[in-house]
Amino acid sequence: MSKKDVVETTEAQIAVHWKEEDYYYPSSKFVGQANLSDPDIFERFSLDNFPDYYTEFAELLTWYKYWDEVLDTSDAPCYKWFKGGLINASYNCIDRHLKDNKNKTAIHFVPEPESEKVEHITYQELYVRVNEMAALLRDTAKLKRGDRVTIHMPMSAELPITMLACARLGVIHSVVFGGFSASASADRIVDSQSRVLIVTDAYYRSGTLLDHKINADEAVKIAKDQGQTVDTVLVWQRYPEKYSSDTPLVEGRDIVVNQELSKYYGVRVEPEKMLSEDPLFLMYTSGTTGKPKGCQHGTGGYLAYVTAMSKYIQDIHPEDVYWCMADIGWITGHSFIVYGPLALCASSVIYEGVPTYPDAGRSWRIAQELDVNIFHTAPTAIRALRKIGPDEPAKYNYHFKHMTTVGEPIEPEVWKWYESAVGKGEAIIVDTWWQTETGGFLCSTVPGIKPMKPGSAGPGVPGIHPFILDDEGKEITEAGIAGNICIRNPWPGQFQTIWGDRDRFVKTYFADICRNPDSKDWQDWPYLAGDAAMMAEDGYFRILGRIDDVINVSGHRLGTKEIESASLVVQEVAEAAVVPVAHDIKGKEPDLYIALRPGVEPTEEIARKISDAVCDQIGKIAKPRKVWLVPDMPKTRSGKIMRRVLGAISNKTDVGNVMTLANPEVVEEIRVMVQD
Ligand code: WT7
Repeated sequence: MSKKDVVETTEAQIAVHWKEEDYYYPSSKFVGQANLSDPDIFERFSLDNFPDYYTEFAELLTWYKYWDEVLDTSDAPCYKWFKGGLINASYNCIDRHLKDNKNKTAIHFVPEPESEKVEHITYQELYVRVNEMAALLRDTAKLKRGDRVTIHMPMSAELPITMLACARLGVIHSVVFGGFSASASADRIVDSQSRVLIVTDAYYRSGTLLDHKINADEAVKIAKDQGQTVDTVLVWQRYPEKYSSDTPLVEGRDIVVNQELSKYYGVRVEPEKMLSEDPLFLMYTSGTTGKPKGCQHGTGGYLAYVTAMSKYIQDIHPEDVYWCMADIGWITGHSFIVYGPLALCASSVIYEGVPTYPDAGRSWRIAQELDVNIFHTAPTAIRALRKIGPDEPAKYNYHFKHMTTVGEPIEPEVWKWYESAVGKGEAIIVDTWWQTETGGFLCSTVPGIKPMKPGSAGPGVPGIHPFILDDEGKEITEAGIAGNICIRNPWPGQFQTIWGDRDRFVKTYFADICRNPDSKDWQDWPYLAGDAAMMAEDGYFRILGRIDDVINVSGHRLGTKEIESASLVVQEVAEAAVVPVAHDIKGKEPDLYIALRPGVEPTEEIARKISDAVCDQIGKIAKPRKVWLVPDMPKTRSGKIMRRVLGAISNKTDVGNVMTLANPEVVEEIRVMVQD
């Protein structure tokens, strides 16, 4: 390596090579109507005023009794927010809206088959259905405050109804993503010690009717082998008049909810007055080790935080039709389909199916039909829609004023398509960076105050104070240097602990960097997010991906996302995925997998063009070992590219079980291409 090469490839140099994108400013029309347009909020929410500024968020809710203390740190870093306050989440999402808005639509439920009618559920109807379900949970299933219940259901209106019924009773729900296997459901049943499992019998996914009840039987069996008995399985029938699962009911254990509910006709259940710090739900997420972590979210703090985020960052107004196209089985759906929007008395759209089925126009037809004006989705969906139907949005008559992207860094090229094609140049975009653990947003622009910058999440939202640490725990204050992104202060949406594993909680999220492990002072417990990021001169944070997504080439860190983003600038590229390949001298090298746009023939020339684009934009250090032009990316059923599988192929290790992927057959095709 020549001297010049070395100089060119230091981290600082890589940062300089990054072309900062231009700012995009919100229109005055948007700013004029924004829920938050006063920049003083950042002043008010400065650390000098911490934690009291958060009472502004708590005031958005209705409390039975106000808190005695805003933040109790006596068990740091397990915090209690709005301690001593009494509140109920179900009451806040439903009952309190009845006086003025009982006839307003709470949920627009859009079934996957387009022949099925859209359900418009008013707040009054939601109230009735949640109360009856709560009565069933209490009297038939014998659930009470503090019990845990596992809910393994796909997207339907019955899912939020079930969650809110749990919240009404103070029962802690643990929702498992519908597409997860029986064994994933079983792991969560065991860890949360659930004796009740709630499922749907069957549902449509991309045109196929799937039997889901069969997973319940399997999950109960696996859980039993691991020592957890499920004595009651509540089965919602998705199409009660037309179809029911072929999997028989188990006598004495299974109860059909639709039938059982007739016993509770007209019954009302008083909401439990929960302590603010009582857990509301568990949401399992994977960590670096195999065992999923049950992130425990509290009631008052969580609800205050997501309500404020829905109001100020999602900018939801009473007259808006808001559609978050996530799955309720993930945190995004919990916070931004169910709890945040409903606490604000919004009209929230729930779509059962996938965005690209039966065709790339489906999402836009829904937007047109329901007059959706706030749209919330993830880069993976945006890329898929861009790939198969770049010109589809223009064919439909809908107008978004606001759009969100969440879940992964979004490549500026994709961002721009989202802005111009999906948003028709009329919508502002917020790129919200956060995690299952954090309950709500950490970094994002406040849409009426800060300009957007494609590819960059933005500064901390009001009340969140992010900073970057190097691997030795020293703060990096210069702009443009990558490190570990942390949050200096606790916030009400932060999870309380890992269910049943306080040690793991402390070790994973705070351990190596805290200054004093015995401290009860929040200042000694900065939150370690596990993402690599860098701050720009303007205080915006660019998220580079999980720490484990960072490729260390010759001691220099490269975000896989940066390389992917660079390759997406090449017009023929539809999707890109980078994985690290072991290299004797450099440690790791990036291998670049590319799916081309439909109709584009793979050629050596295109591969070279892509490789050159990466070198041009980031530097030679990022040059891919090889550009593989593959027929398709291996993907999970939720649409995430399985980089793990690609990594195994590149490194010639075992790809493991790929049968749960959406397209397992492509794995062998790629393996042959790369290894033979
Ligand atoms: C990880 C958290 C946040 C809800 C959905 C995912 C990545 C999330 C962004 C974003 C770049 C992002 C991070 C984070 N991530 N949002 N806007 N830009 N990266 O929740 O499954 O807990 O994943 O998703 O790596 O750590 P999750």
